[in-house]
Amino acid sequence: SAGIAFTGSGSAAPAATLDNATLSQRVETSDEWIHSRTGMRDRRIAGPQETLAELAALAGERALAMAGITAVELDLIVLATSTPDDLFGSAVSVQHALGATRAVAFDLTAACSGFVFGMATAAQFLRTGTYRNCLLLGADVLSRWVDWDDRRTCVLFGDGAGAVVMQAVEPARDRLLGFELRSDGTLNHTLNLGFVGEAQPLAGDLTYASGSYRSISMNGREVYRFAVERVPEVISKALFRSQLLPEQLDWLLLHQANQRIMDAVAARLKLAPEQVISNIPRYGNTSAASIPLALDEYVRTGKVTPGHAIAAAGFGAGLTWGAAIFRW
Ligand code: ACO
Repeated sequence: SAGIAFTGSGSAAPAATLDNATLSQRVETSDEWIHSRTGMRDRRIAGPQETLAELAALAGERALAMAGITAVELDLIVLATSTPDDLFGSAVSVQHALGATRAVAFDLTAACSGFVFGMATAAQFLRTGTYRNCLLLGADVLSRWVDWDDRRTCVLFGDGAGAVVMQAVEPARDRLLGFELRSDGTLNHTLNLGFVGEAQPLAGDLTYASGSYRSISMNGREVYRFAVERVPEVISKALFRSQLLPEQLDWLLLHQANQRIMDAVAARLKLAPEQVISNIPRYGNTSAASIPLALDEYVRTGKVTPGHAIAAAGFGAGLTWGAAIFRW
């Protein structure tokens, strides 16, 4: 089967920044509370004129430029998102914005695990030789879906987009070493963004559900406990599949949900704090975007260099979680 190489990264975020002090004008909170518990200081917020697809397309353009391929060469666009502009899917808008006329494009929903789930999905098409050039995007605008009067959740989230180009190469150049994915729907109540409808008369005896999606609902403590326990476990499984030892890793690239979660996972895996990739002070939790957004920053600043071994792991609503081990 074909090898897979990561040939470009890109990212984009709205210009508007919301800092902890400004947030404390909206809800009863403080910079001290937020920073000490999460590591967050700023997050970016998309305005009403900014679309998810535009953010994702900008991240995608930058990744294509780094990879040195054009949009028409793309065979596949996978957009990991839980907050599409269009409930029918936003990957097609990204395809249109990029001019990726040959590519098939679809959305993939796995909340904050979306990017890792997307990587595993794209890999199937590349390994089998079905497609050669894939743009994998993670993008979310959770600012549209948080309750801005609920301090337990609204302080945590921000908007952004990130992308990588994955290309089929000869097996000897394979860079995706292994992955491991998990889901547990019994824990859905701990973190969700559900539709709630009320019966409305339709015609005859029939009723239909009229309503809308509510805002994010989360039990922070339960999600924290889940992450600290399950993420090291799934990374260990993915490392085993990859025939790699934790000490052979250069970087730990976790979903940027909370600095304390990232530090606890690193400690469990006996990795040094300097190996933890983090941009959480500046972006907060950008859901499916957080992993490629942080990766792109480390690639562009020359911290992550070709050949570096990276353990990436996403975790979040579903509940879903998963890890991918790859070399940049
Ligand atoms: N400012 C000030 N006080 C606050 C705030 C706030 N923003 N939020 C909560 N508090 C208060 C609470 O009301 C509570 O007060 P009480 O004891 O008087 O009731 C107290 O602070 C402690 O609240 P906890 O929720 O227990 O705080 P905790 O220490 O657990 O930290 C946090 C909360 C940061 C959310 C943490 O639980 C966490 O990070 N959990 C994981 C979240 C996560 O990873 N989510 C992933 C989402 S990914 C996705 O798929 C969308």
